[in-house]
Amino acid sequence: MTFYTLHVNGKAQRVESWDPDQPLLYLLRNALSLHGPKFGCGLGQCGACTVLMDGAAVRSCSVSISAVQGKSVTTLEALGTPEKPDRGAGEGRARRQSLPLRHAHAHPARGAPREPGVRGLP
Ligand code: FES
Repeated sequence: MTFYTLHVNGKAQRVESWDPDQPLLYLLRNALSLHGPKFGCGLGQCGACTVLMDGAAVRSCSVSISAVQGKSVTTLEALGTPEKPDRGAGEGRARRQSLPLRHAHAHPARGAPREPGVRGLP
């Protein structure tokens, strides 16, 4: 069993996994009980599992836990409520950083913005 340390929604978390290739999505949902990221296709295509990793949108079903060691992960749970969409200091920065995540979940079939030159789903 190996332990991994990462920051999730601003808090340091230590999780254990027997498989270094275990998808980040499973650890977020099962070990940390964060259900904002959803299991959709499991293939990195639908965007239902999108989270921010060090500020960039990634599909958590396609990122292994070993690749997340020491990184910062933000899920939908950290983005606030409809009444108070951005919390605390640095709201403008938080709003800008959350745009890829908000976009991916507002239009899950399109997913997060992709690399230039890579076509998204119609
Ligand atoms: S579950 Fe569809 S992209 Fe991750």
